[in-house]
Amino acid sequence: MEAPPAARNPDLPLSGRHVVLGVTGSISCYKAADIASKLRQAGAAVEVVMTPAATKFISPLTFQSLTGRDVVVDMFSTAEAEAHVEVARRADAFVIAPATADCLANLAHGNAADMVTLTALATTAPILVAPAMDNQMWEHPATQDNVATLRERGVEVVGPMLGRLATGRTGLGRLAEPAQVVGALRTLLGERTGDLRGRHVVVSAGPTHEPIDPVRFVGNRSTGKMGFAIAEAARDRGARVTLVAGPVALESPWGVHRIDVATVEQMLIALEQATADADAIIMAAAPADFRPANPADHKLKKADGQQGLTVELVQNPDIIATLAGGGVRVGFAAETRNLAAYAKQKLPAKRLDFIVANDVSAAGSGFGTETNEVIIIHSDGRTEELPLMSKHAVGHAILDRILDRLA
Ligand code: CTP
Repeated sequence: MEAPPAARNPDLPLSGRHVVLGVTGSISCYKAADIASKLRQAGAAVEVVMTPAATKFISPLTFQSLTGRDVVVDMFSTAEAEAHVEVARRADAFVIAPATADCLANLAHGNAADMVTLTALATTAPILVAPAMDNQMWEHPATQDNVATLRERGVEVVGPMLGRLATGRTGLGRLAEPAQVVGALRTLLGERTGDLRGRHVVVSAGPTHEPIDPVRFVGNRSTGKMGFAIAEAARDRGARVTLVAGPVALESPWGVHRIDVATVEQMLIALEQATADADAIIMAAAPADFRPANPADHKLKKADGQQGLTVELVQNPDIIATLAGGGVRVGFAAETRNLAAYAKQKLPAKRLDFIVANDVSAAGSGFGTETNEVIIIHSDGRTEELPLMSKHAVGHAILDRILDRLA
């Protein structure tokens, strides 16, 4: 399969991709409409094929409206000559969501029973299936054997998830959420065609919380968005990604190995292990520089501080400066003044290949924003000023430079 076009738009991670979405008959069909929409939003051209059973749950018109393309249900009545195989040929990826037990059985046995299974048989594109069914059907040995067969053939499977089923019972059988299906597809395409495949990229993100007592901490305003965006971008490019995250309220990107930590001490230990075989470490976290010298092992009471309370702080280790290796070493400099000068000082002290500096007090940059305006300063003194862009796009810019260094 060909790599994505060179003019990749980092904010449209599936741009240039033709994704065929197969929909089979399950009560969860309504979620397939959202999947089609999310694939479009990610930049993909989307073409839908359905089984007759699926059309009993949701109208082809829904998908036609969402994708701007004809939907193929009947493999014998299409205007296009040999349409049934042409759809399969056009595909850069084939996603079947929801995939019923019957669909999995047909796929495993190579049956071209309908337009969905026929497309699977006729395509050479990677296939992702998102099963959805009653938990007893999923757990049946026949279904499990079929899924094992498909996995052996290289078919990727996302879900089913544990949760409430249509019957009202709880079990393993729910269709993966649309964002998870799209995340699994991006992971799969990255693994097959990404320019970082075979590489291990370690990213740190978020603040650390240094305990004052069991309920209070010293921390900062980092939300982790920058680090999570980098992790997702590296995942999209096929890297194996370890994300060491401080306490943040963000969902893990699909396919990324996340290790949650609270303190600098824990972050250091996690990163020492993760970077042992890393090709790159991107230190986007904002570890607390200081921690309380003697955290109380019980909650401090108001009465303890009637004359005021002094918390003695000691310096934390500098994580990136302490780490021995990590391959290409990238740091961040969060400043509120003298951006370039302060950032330059940090390069040699932290043994960085380059540093990404941003003014956290500027509009559109810094904590909690979706965008960032950064300058990149290289160890040889070269400085690049990047325009204001999404954090995802900044992530790709960083990864481009890492790739240059790895080459
Ligand atoms: N960093 C680190 N360990 C720390 C503090 C920071 O590894 N204890 C890393 C950050 O993740 C970032 C880089 O060092 O990649 C610079 O962080 P920053 O907070 O800008 O600088 P400091 O080294 O903390 O220096 P100062 O507070 O004086 O700006």
